[in-house]
Amino acid sequence: MNALAATNRNFRHAARILGLDSKLEQSLLIPFREIKVECTIPKDDGSLVSYVGFRVQHDNSRGPMKGGIRYHREVDPDEVNALAQLMTWKTAVADIPYGGAKGGIGCNPKDLTKSELERLTRVFTQKIHDLIGIHTDVPAPDMGTNAQTMAWILDEYSKFHGHSPAVVTGKPIDLGGSLGREAATGRGVVFGTEALLAEHGKSIKNMTFVIQGFGNVGSWAAKLIHERGGKVIAVSDITGAIRNPKGIDIPELLQHKETTGSLKGFQGGDFMNPDELLVHECDVLIPCALGGVLNRNNAADVKAKFIIEAANHPTDPEADEILSKKGVVILPDIYANAGGVTVSYFEWVQNIQGFMWDEDKVNSELQRYMTRAFYNIKNMCQTHDCNLRMGAFTLGVNRVARATLLRGWEA
Ligand SMILES: NC(=O)c1ccc[n+]([C@@H]2O[C@H](COP(=O)([O-])OP(=O)(O)OC[C@H]3O[C@@H](n4cnc5c(N)ncnc54)[C@H](O)[C@@H]3O)[C@@H](O)[C@H]2O)c1
Repeated sequence: MNALAATNRNFRHAARILGLDSKLEQSLLIPFREIKVECTIPKDDGSLVSYVGFRVQHDNSRGPMKGGIRYHREVDPDEVNALAQLMTWKTAVADIPYGGAKGGIGCNPKDLTKSELERLTRVFTQKIHDLIGIHTDVPAPDMGTNAQTMAWILDEYSKFHGHSPAVVTGKPIDLGGSLGREAATGRGVVFGTEALLAEHGKSIKNMTFVIQGFGNVGSWAAKLIHERGGKVIAVSDITGAIRNPKGIDIPELLQHKETTGSLKGFQGGDFMNPDELLVHECDVLIPCALGGVLNRNNAADVKAKFIIEAANHPTDPEADEILSKKGVVILPDIYANAGGVTVSYFEWVQNIQGFMWDEDKVNSELQRYMTRAFYNIKNMCQTHDCNLRMGAFTLGVNRVARATLLRGWEA
């Protein structure tokens, strides 16, 4: 099942639990606006090349739409649609005053030089600048894009609308980015994990963790878990997987990754088959890489008691069913990885206030938002007798439905 079908299914299930009117349900599902633009740029050798860019703006009933822009060879409109919708529910779960959007350009950023990427980003911004904005739609980095991409969007947008740092988040600090933004998704994952474990009378200290993916989210989650006394016993990235039953020395692994760029060659553990990582014995499994990695082929063999969905959509619906029958507790993606968008919201607030927060304030506010959202989800689970995924979906969908109804339908 692809990401759109799975998201729609979760949404429809939540709508049924909430007893939403069928017309309201349909209206919440259909995106507010779908944008498709052609971006033609000269390459460095003078030849012309065209790419297709998308922006799906899903819902704005609770505030400006918010979501990443990805540069990837396979930017598929269906997937962008699903991810835009997920952002609507995610911002509502986190209770930040935003709707949801997502966008991207179908290109392989590795095939483009820095100046070609800059031209492409500027042309894309020229095509959509009237449709994004501080109070309309606020993009952020995603796969294949970064703080530099946001700096180019900010610069191009400002040519049309005047200096507007709040039009994008995930910017370089020198251009109004927030302290703590880089670590925010991994830190949010750890705050969510702490709240979940506390509910079960446990804490991170002395628990065993397996982490798939050692990029931005996975490496920050591993670092913070290690600092809290958790034992990270296996980690993987695209180059392979390592394990150490005594606990991997994460600061050493981070140092190794900084020097070599990957986990390959790390001496502080044994190399293992990456396919075995997800079914490795542990208390907590944290997928931080790709979607769909837990599926009918491996779900029955998962040994973790808790799964924290740091990646988007790592568990497909078949695996979800198998895992819940086994009693595995899953902290769903629309909550678990909401730390990034929450600190993006703090960045936007700081830009609008023209007042920069220190990092301790960013981190303590993030903890407050993540902990509050966890207990809001638990309340929905109790009210509707459902699991955490449906607790999160019903919470998000209900908040968006209420905002939509309050705004009314009069043209
Ligand atoms: N960065 C954020 O703020 C953020 C926010 C919300 C959700 N997410 C989601 O979290 C996930 C990770 O994002 P990120 O920003 O850390 O990305 P990243 O590109 O920094 O890191 C991805 C990591 O996954 C590894 N990886 C790729 N393919 C793999 C494979 N087959 N097996 C094992 N590891 C593999 C890569 O080597 C890398 O270590 C994605 O699903 C993303 O959508 C990220």
